[in-house]
Amino acid sequence: MCGIVGYLGKKNTKEILLSGLKELEYRGYDSAGIAVLQNGNFSNYKAVGKLVNLEKKTKNFITNGFAIGIGHTRWATHGKPTELNAHPHIGENSYVVHNGIIENYVEIKKDLKNDGVNFLSQTDTEVIVHLFEKNLKSEKSAFGAFKKTISKLDGAYAILLVTKSENDTIFYAKHGSPMLFGVNAENEKYFASSDTPLIGQCSHVNYFEDGDYGYVSASEIVIFDKNNIKKDAVLSALSENKLSAQKDGFRFFMEKEIYEQGEVISDTLLGRITENEVIFDEIPKDLFDGIKELKLCACGTSYHSALSASYLFERYSKIKTSVEIASEFRYREPIMSKDTLFVVISQSGETADTLETLKMAKNAGLKTLVICNVDNSSMVRLADATILTRAGIEKGVASTKAFATQITVFWMLTLYIAKIKKSLSNKKISRQISLLREVPSVVKVTNEMHEKIKRISKRYLHGHGFFFIGRDIFFPLALEGALKLKEISYLHAEGYPSGEMKHGPIALADPELFTIALLPEHLHFEKSKSNVEELSARDSTICAISAVEFEKADDFIQISKCKDYMLEFFEMMVVVQLLSLEISIRLGNDVDMPRNLAKSVTVE
Ligand code: AGP
Repeated sequence: MCGIVGYLGKKNTKEILLSGLKELEYRGYDSAGIAVLQNGNFSNYKAVGKLVNLEKKTKNFITNGFAIGIGHTRWATHGKPTELNAHPHIGENSYVVHNGIIENYVEIKKDLKNDGVNFLSQTDTEVIVHLFEKNLKSEKSAFGAFKKTISKLDGAYAILLVTKSENDTIFYAKHGSPMLFGVNAENEKYFASSDTPLIGQCSHVNYFEDGDYGYVSASEIVIFDKNNIKKDAVLSALSENKLSAQKDGFRFFMEKEIYEQGEVISDTLLGRITENEVIFDEIPKDLFDGIKELKLCACGTSYHSALSASYLFERYSKIKTSVEIASEFRYREPIMSKDTLFVVISQSGETADTLETLKMAKNAGLKTLVICNVDNSSMVRLADATILTRAGIEKGVASTKAFATQITVFWMLTLYIAKIKKSLSNKKISRQISLLREVPSVVKVTNEMHEKIKRISKRYLHGHGFFFIGRDIFFPLALEGALKLKEISYLHAEGYPSGEMKHGPIALADPELFTIALLPEHLHFEKSKSNVEELSARDSTICAISAVEFEKADDFIQISKCKDYMLEFFEMMVVVQLLSLEISIRLGNDVDMPRNLAKSVTVE
């Protein structure tokens, strides 16, 4: 995800900006840049890839005395990760960095182009700097021009802008994307999109509110609120602990990552859906030519997302789909035919077993696609086509947001193929897309929900096992819920199809067997309910998750009423993640680094 830093002071500005950007590296990015203004002259550097490339380019650049600078790490959304698309973006005499999305950039760009403005990048951000320079011609001051500019922007943003016409000032605005400002005893001033770059540099910080805008110079700190009323900075002492700052106040990275899911799913969708169509510019147009079958292959959580996807592909895209566990597929001498698209799914892109299956498919001459969270990973380099999930760096060993974004990509891919194969009408595709748009808000964790799960969790710290049960696409979600729980609580848990319990596992039922029942209102509700009733009749302790009250449950976690089972899927996903988290915390385990596990399994 993108990161922003800014600095006003006398130290070597380049060093300050680069070390600030380094602290934001963990968020993930694919290019970076800085712009420094000193003695009326701009120096600007950009590089694709890791910060070390930018460091090389700026090796001989230093500042002496007072300077101002802005820096950015970009995670491509509008436009590919190229130098031209990297921030800061230039106008005639100004530079801008921006996090978020300017939703009305197409209209603004059109107007500016009609005025003769030449655009260098494909980004939404570039309109800000050109609009500012246009306004500079009619407004009395640079601040007036900046204020007018941000009043025209729709969407979410955190912006820093520097201009030659006020060469000791940084203009800023925050609306929907995080930004803070910090000071220290040496009267240096810093900006950043999260507090980690400021730790060790600043003693006090001011967290901007949505709608805040203003400017900071060597002598002034000016803040206006969303009602254009001037206000004072509220400076609070900054923590000195980097690790806890990276966690943004959450107890564990896993918790933070669960809470981030709305935001990252919005990133996954960004630029890929219109009202009636899914667009994947990154995959070749002819990828599905001659393809009659999909084979999905992965490990762990990624395997569960593949299994979930198989229900969507067969139901909506009407394409035959099979799913394989990579470590099994490798050794079972599988038959591979060239009319099969081989799809591997991996958060890391480095999992040894999955990588090997990709090599096998390539050697057999199959077309290959990888759905991955890490650009430039081994799988991304090897596959014919890639769809990145855009979850940002996932630190918790127990995968959460990576799973959420994989499912989002698969749902989009289902509609993409359905369009090609004409297996769904345009009207149905549009309906599905409107559902997809609701996912970011569906996965938002409410205080009420989290508190309820925290309370309930104390009753599930013992027992002789957990069964997570569900039907249809809720069966892979049950598998995923069970995997989450066992990874971080070390309690025995299994995922089972609800209808399969009576074929054996129900023999285990007693009060010390905990059943976590997924009961979606919009998919096989009655049938799933009877399966849970069978378990309740045998005295298993039931925790039901549903939008519909279920009187046979010992514990009931109510999700919101949704229009469609896929929205129920996403909300239940959050519930099972939080339940595992809270059980693990109560047991005193290290949630982020559970015993015996590694984040990336590069051995077979
Ligand atoms: C999930 O919580 C895991 N820790 C694990 O199952 C993981 O999903 C699996 O190792 C596959 O990793 P990958 O997605 O990076 O390939």
